[in-house]
Amino acid sequence: MSETETLLLGQVLDIHANPFEAPPEEAARHERRGAVLLRGSAIVETGPAEKLQKAHPRAQVIDHGDALILPGFVDSHAHYPQTAIIASWGKRLIDWLNSYTFPEEMRFGDPEYAAEIANRYLDLLLAHGTTSVASFCTIHPASVNAFFEAAAARNMAVAAGRTCMDRNAPDGLRDDAQSAYDESKALLERWHGRGRGIYAITPRFSPTSTPEQLEALGSLWSEHPDCPMQTHLSEQTDEVEWVRELYPCKRDYLDTYEAHGLLGPGAMFGHAIWLTDNERARLRASGAALIHCPTSNTFIGSGIFDTARAMGEGQIVGLATDTGGGSNFSMLHTMAAAYEIGQLAGAALHPAQLLWLATEGSARAMRAEGRIGTLRPGTDADLVVLDLASTPAIAQRVARAETIWEAVFPTIMMGDDRAIASVYIAGERYDALVPGGDGGGH
Ligand code: GUN
Ligand code: ZN
Repeated sequence: MSETETLLLGQVLDIHANPFEAPPEEAARHERRGAVLLRGSAIVETGPAEKLQKAHPRAQVIDHGDALILPGFVDSHAHYPQTAIIASWGKRLIDWLNSYTFPEEMRFGDPEYAAEIANRYLDLLLAHGTTSVASFCTIHPASVNAFFEAAAARNMAVAAGRTCMDRNAPDGLRDDAQSAYDESKALLERWHGRGRGIYAITPRFSPTSTPEQLEALGSLWSEHPDCPMQTHLSEQTDEVEWVRELYPCKRDYLDTYEAHGLLGPGAMFGHAIWLTDNERARLRASGAALIHCPTSNTFIGSGIFDTARAMGEGQIVGLATDTGGGSNFSMLHTMAAAYEIGQLAGAALHPAQLLWLATEGSARAMRAEGRIGTLRPGTDADLVVLDLASTPAIAQRVARAETIWEAVFPTIMMGDDRAIASVYIAGERYDALVPGGDGGGH
């Protein structure tokens, strides 16, 4: 009862309905001078500033002026251990894994290195306005502990899991079916539901797991069905061909997961570009999510994911950076890439759709809807505050804006960490981590 009330003032954009199901403009409510009322760690109410100020005269007021208050961004597929090798040149998926990724992931057996990168990564996320992420770790339990500890230190709601591989990976990065099960289970029991932690059962992808390992992880998931399960599916055509060779008895790539109990609600399949109609139908019917990783799909040369088609078919879709196959930590940049890929696929995604994918869409994919990703009363107050005129290039365009959509779209297309004016994690302002204390202009 005695929890403090805080009233955040600014522009408020509440995308209260799925803008792929309702007309985007009707799915959102914009308050030019709005307010978000927080009590402790939760959102209580949003509305016009004047009304909320009158109703809550004793609330502490933080005025963000003209900046735009939104739910914090949710990145539903990333590899924090790849932070230090992001933007590595010149390879496609399998070569990229062997040349850059696996050598780097080898280092995460060292708890100190794992902690250093986990902390660096989460600081970078907050600086870019991302308040939640679903991340792969490495095969080392130390990498999982380091990540959940770094997230707990910031009170961030993250999903993460030990990345399991028992073939087609170098010495030092392979386990077996039993140790994958045992170590994943121990980590799940330690971290799932502890604070804001969510344990995600994490087979890397079918080429690096034997059928026995997928079966073991399917069993673990059946014992903990409320956990999400994250993996990769049909990212590149060479990979799909390789899976056909490795699993000659399976009817398609999806079947390598499905046959081992790894398809269902809470499954998150990264990329999912090269699917047959039959796979699409089974994915939809199962309640699984596809995670669109647009900067990765262009950076590694994977292909075009058709967001509008997937959403139109009723598929659950999240949006993600796929750091460090993805080339940027920013969900603003990721939305820009999703827009451009949408154009190539034949549909201009509305800013409301892009913002929804980067917040509630990803939260749903992670099974964290109802807790994060919206401004709904009762949900956790994880928020980002955007400066809609953060650079001269953006400011001169916004000067002509006549609607909120025209005002926010330049920041989606051209914004970066300079656009992040503030971040709130469970009601606590986290500006200490946002660059700008060093003279960056915030
Ligand atoms: N497929 C299997 N592992 C990975 C990975 O680390 N990154 C990407 N982009 N694809 C993968
Ligand atoms: Zn990935």
